Amino acid sequence: VCVCVCVCVCVDYYLDLWTFEVLGPTDLIVAVAGDDIILPCYLKPNISAEDMTVDWLNLIITDGHVYRYQNSKIIRDQQIPSYIERTSLFKEELWRGNTSLKLTRVQGTDEGRYKCFIQSKSCNGEFIIRVLVKGEPVTTSGVIEGHREGGMGLLCESEGWHPEPELVWLGSEGVHLSAGPPETHRDLEGFYTVKLHVIVQETDINRFTCRVQQSRINEKMERFTSLVSELFDYATPWRISSIVLCCLGAITGLALAIYCICNKKGNDNILHLQVI
Ligand SMILES: *[C@@H]1O[C@H](CO)[C@@H](O)[C@H](O)[C@H]1NC(C)=O
Ligand SMILES: *[C@@H]1O[C@H](CO)[C@@H](O)[C@H](O)[C@H]1NC(C)=O
Repeated sequence: VCVCVCVCVCVDYYLDLWTFEVLGPTDLIVAVAGDDIILPCYLKPNISAEDMTVDWLNLIITDGHVYRYQNSKIIRDQQIPSYIERTSLFKEELWRGNTSLKLTRVQGTDEGRYKCFIQSKSCNGEFIIRVLVKGEPVTTSGVIEGHREGGMGLLCESEGWHPEPELVWLGSEGVHLSAGPPETHRDLEGFYTVKLHVIVQETDINRFTCRVQQSRINEKMERFTSLVSELFDYATPWRISSIVLCCLGAITGLALAIYCICNKKGNDNILHLQVI
């Protein structure tokens, strides 16, 4: 029996038949856009992974090859272009079973579930990590677009979001104003720009709020727009036409008056009046 056990252990040793477990964090990893992060993954027991194949895959993407290390080399054949230049293993840590992946300049499209898959000649194991990417929204603006359909048009625009935010316009008392559907644009790095137009009517306070929020990342931004009521007064087309007509009338009247005075008082006064 003793001899047999010894032989088995020796055979195991030479054929690399050790079994191992692949481990990592069970908690969600929250990464802030633009930061560098580590996706932890390691072997238990902490045997060397230097001669193993280490694969990192993004499970949200079909054939989501994020990184491959095999025969002591990085294999780039099927690597997703957006991960080239941004991923690496800690080479100096492999000998003690640390196969964590370093991911730099995190972008929106990095969100997902990552599989750390490790194969030796005889054994393999895997661990799945969840990553949430939190955008760093940069601007939220309320722009006055001028008179629209009997009210005042306002535009709210916000960019740099991840995940996609919710956008609403609120009136003076915090009531939701009905607006069209938001316009959403997602850039190549996976960040969202959202825009929402609204037409507001005059109220007592004329203070309007654009609120952009994403509850999953606990992010909320508000932008206030205050309008002076004169904007509403002079904005409607008939008001503008009547103002224009009034002005035209006044100018015509003045011209007539000048003409009459000039005719009465002679050429010297024409010069005088023109100077006025
Ligand atoms: C491997 O794990 C053992 C037991 O947990 C620990 O004593 C040892 O220092 C570790 N070796 C390395 C290289 O991390
Ligand atoms: C693996 O290496 C990285 C980089 O040095 C380190 O931050 C991490 O804590 C290591 N993980 C383990 C399990 O030793």
